[in-house]
Amino acid sequence: MGKIIAVAQQKGGAGKTMIVSQLGVVLAEGAKVALLDIDPQASLTTWGRLRATASKAAVGVEIFTISGWRLANELDKLKASHDYVLVDTPPVIDSDARRAIRGADLVLVPLNPAPPDLWAAEGTLKLAAEERRPATFLFNRTPAASRLRKRLEAEISARQLSLLPVALANRAGYANAFADGLGVTEAGPATQAAAELRAASQALLCLLDVALS
Ligand SMILES: Nc1ncnc2c1ncn2[C@@H]1O[C@H](COP(=O)(O)OP(=O)(O)OP(=O)(O)O)[C@@H](O)[C@H]1O
Ligand SMILES: [Mg+2]
Repeated sequence: MGKIIAVAQQKGGAGKTMIVSQLGVVLAEGAKVALLDIDPQASLTTWGRLRATASKAAVGVEIFTISGWRLANELDKLKASHDYVLVDTPPVIDSDARRAIRGADLVLVPLNPAPPDLWAAEGTLKLAAEERRPATFLFNRTPAASRLRKRLEAEISARQLSLLPVALANRAGYANAFADGLGVTEAGPATQAAAELRAASQALLCLLDVALS
């Protein structure tokens, strides 16, 4: 049985779609990966379309679109046929977001290290708690050191919430790779972005093991 990771955060532009695409490519290097786009904006699907003609696309990731009452059933099917299923959710708490979180083994909540992103995440955290699903934050577009980042880390720790120990920096490489239908590990395998993403992916898999044990 595969594992489902729902990437959810009510705050728009936090990096949900970028993270689903990038993690999807890294995980697909050694596993069978499905990406599920349940956001009507369909950016992930567009990335997949670009990917179909990208010469550097090295690994296969399958992209699916589904919404509504069939979502739970489709998640079950994808879980049975893939090692990892990553779900890109819309920036709203609606019934589809709830279905995705209900089906998830882990809810990954990207946030820029600034208080408004944490405030906006409350709805997603509440939903995960209601559905009894483990949730973890991932800092995205993060400066190496900043007072705000430290403040947020302290707040997350004080509330005994989970935070992935590897943060993603603000790097043009992510946006450029995404625009070309690629992962950073394909567009620039030796870049800092690729190294950081691999580290984040490893940390995520460790956390998933803990969540499931
Ligand atoms: N770490 C990063 N470095 C540089 N650019 C980034 C990074 N993460 C995301 N971006 C860029 O920020 C923008 C928003 O990211 P993305 O579309 O993934 O957010 P989202 O949470 O899916 O947004 P929405 O809520 O609208 O679905 C995109 O242009 C993306 O390329
Ligand atoms: Mg998105």
